[in-house]
Amino acid sequence: MNEHEPVASSTSMRTHRCGELRSSHVGMSVRLCGWVARRREHGEHLAFIDLRDHSGVVQCVVDGSVDVRSEYVIAVSGVVRDRPEGTANPRLATGAVEVTDCSVEVLSAAEPPPFLVDDRVEVDESVRLRYRFIDLRRPRMQANLRLRARVNAAIRAAMERHGFCEVETPLLWAPTPEGAREFAVPSRLHHGSFYVLPQSPQLAKQLLMVGGLDRYYQIARCLRDEDQRADRQYEFTQLDLEASFVGQDDIMGVVSDAVIAAARAVAPDRPAMIERMTWEQARERFGTDKPDLRFGMEIVDLTAVFEQTAVRAFAAPAVKAIRVPGGAETGRARLDALVAHAKRLGASGLAWFRVLPAASAETAEAEEAAKPSEGPGATGAGPELAADAGAARLDSPLERFLSAQERHGILSRTGSRPGDLVLVVADDQHVACSVLGALRTELGGLGVAEGPLRFAWVVDFPMFEGVDEAGNPVAAHHPFTMPHPEDLEKLEEDPLGVRALAYDLVLNGWELGSGSVRIHKADVQRRVFAALGISEEAAERRFGFLLRAFRFGAPPHAGFAVGLDRLVAILAGEEAIREVIAFPKTQSGADPLTGAPAELPPSTLAELGIRVVANRSGG
Ligand code: AMO
Repeated sequence: MNEHEPVASSTSMRTHRCGELRSSHVGMSVRLCGWVARRREHGEHLAFIDLRDHSGVVQCVVDGSVDVRSEYVIAVSGVVRDRPEGTANPRLATGAVEVTDCSVEVLSAAEPPPFLVDDRVEVDESVRLRYRFIDLRRPRMQANLRLRARVNAAIRAAMERHGFCEVETPLLWAPTPEGAREFAVPSRLHHGSFYVLPQSPQLAKQLLMVGGLDRYYQIARCLRDEDQRADRQYEFTQLDLEASFVGQDDIMGVVSDAVIAAARAVAPDRPAMIERMTWEQARERFGTDKPDLRFGMEIVDLTAVFEQTAVRAFAAPAVKAIRVPGGAETGRARLDALVAHAKRLGASGLAWFRVLPAASAETAEAEEAAKPSEGPGATGAGPELAADAGAARLDSPLERFLSAQERHGILSRTGSRPGDLVLVVADDQHVACSVLGALRTELGGLGVAEGPLRFAWVVDFPMFEGVDEAGNPVAAHHPFTMPHPEDLEKLEEDPLGVRALAYDLVLNGWELGSGSVRIHKADVQRRVFAALGISEEAAERRFGFLLRAFRFGAPPHAGFAVGLDRLVAILAGEEAIREVIAFPKTQSGADPLTGAPAELPPSTLAELGIRVVANRSGG
């Protein structure tokens, strides 16, 4: 029981909840309802029943035998008393008391459950989902869903405080140009025509702005036919919002407030600061636009150090490094694996340097003597290094090819100390940063739901990312995103160099949400469509209804969407969003509980005007 439980616990069937009984209840007659968590017989004439409801477990003592088994639903009437001396259970909130003189009424019998209702028992995911109604009885799932409800409540309160109006938008909708594959729903009345389930309420909320709603929000269900992952489900929930006559900072302020209110509602001492950086800075410092700020290991630029290098591997447009604190212990096999991994990630190679305490003069000399002297760029400067960098030397197959200045540069720029490991990638800027960013995340070693909460705002995203098969730039956010005003004139000549007024919120290395300032002027929209290679006819066909609305007086507007499943998962300390969703799908998109997706009877298909040409599941 905690402060978030409703005040009134009694109903017409029970006087209390199981988990709330304490010494202060001693002497009271109570009636409890719940599931049999465990039953133990003490001889023929005494039985102990651990009775469980959502609030916890309490021990009930029955004189005589009683015919109940695990997961039976029963009502127990009895009297609360202190447990006899020496039998209190300090691990149980109700462990000081028990209910005695119990009479038991079976409300519903139960088959033996497929697994124990106990968080400590590992159960196969497909079994958990097939019997989700039993899985939900486990304390972990109870806690997660209740935490989720409190997050929703805190977010609603924050949005209301900021004057946002909750509006529900349709689920039967038209395609949204946001990049994900969409689910289609056949129309019974118009054979061959389909509704599309919204991948987000993006276009609806922009129409609401044209409709003068001023500030809209919704805890919105979104549907995307994407591969399922730890942070992705077909169906998920967004805190979706949009506001008129605002700029980027206004939206970021409201969203910051809402997510911090949510975090505080479930963990009051969580930090409030949200760091802000540009997309460019995030890529340079962390090699990703989803930086995990819970640990350092930022990417360091060594390009200047290797400007004149004789080491061929380092003669590249960019030389970048990360320092792995305490990594000098890493063995050769693991280092070889890291090199192979970096290559798989796209790097031409990965150099490593173990940082060791400076060798004594004799050891250094002995080591130096043992080294072959040939090789590109060999300077034989080992002992100089010890003098140069003071207390550290480098251990690496490449070490002997480095100049003294390069050795010193590696140590001083990365701030390395004996015991550390330095990883270096020389490549073009993008590859070097992204490979080191990936290694940083892996070696930083934190699960997404561990440790403190570190939010970050990443602003000034590029307007476009890469080009499609036809050579047209692809919208990084969506085609209604406003280009950065400073880059507008580059839209035609250098589209890939254009930044957008688009911003992401990141939490512990996960993308938590994104948003943008929208285009509300027809001429800018036309230029962006042209840059994307969308003809006027295609634009009219795909989202003519939005463009038409914009011709009737569109206010400047901007918005955002927070992935609520992700926020709740991190707040609940879970690594996968399906742990905070009541009825999630499996990795393969199936629902073992209902059997969905399933075939439909021929009569239903006929009614919908659908003929199945091939059954891909083979079933
Ligand atoms: P975006 O597509 O970035 O933006 O989505 C916003 C946030 O929604 C969450 N999310 C998901 N969560 C679980 N499963 C999924 N399959 C999934 N896909 C997305 C993420 C993501 O950051 N309309 C724009 C927002 C806007 O511009 O206002 C949009 O939907 O946390």
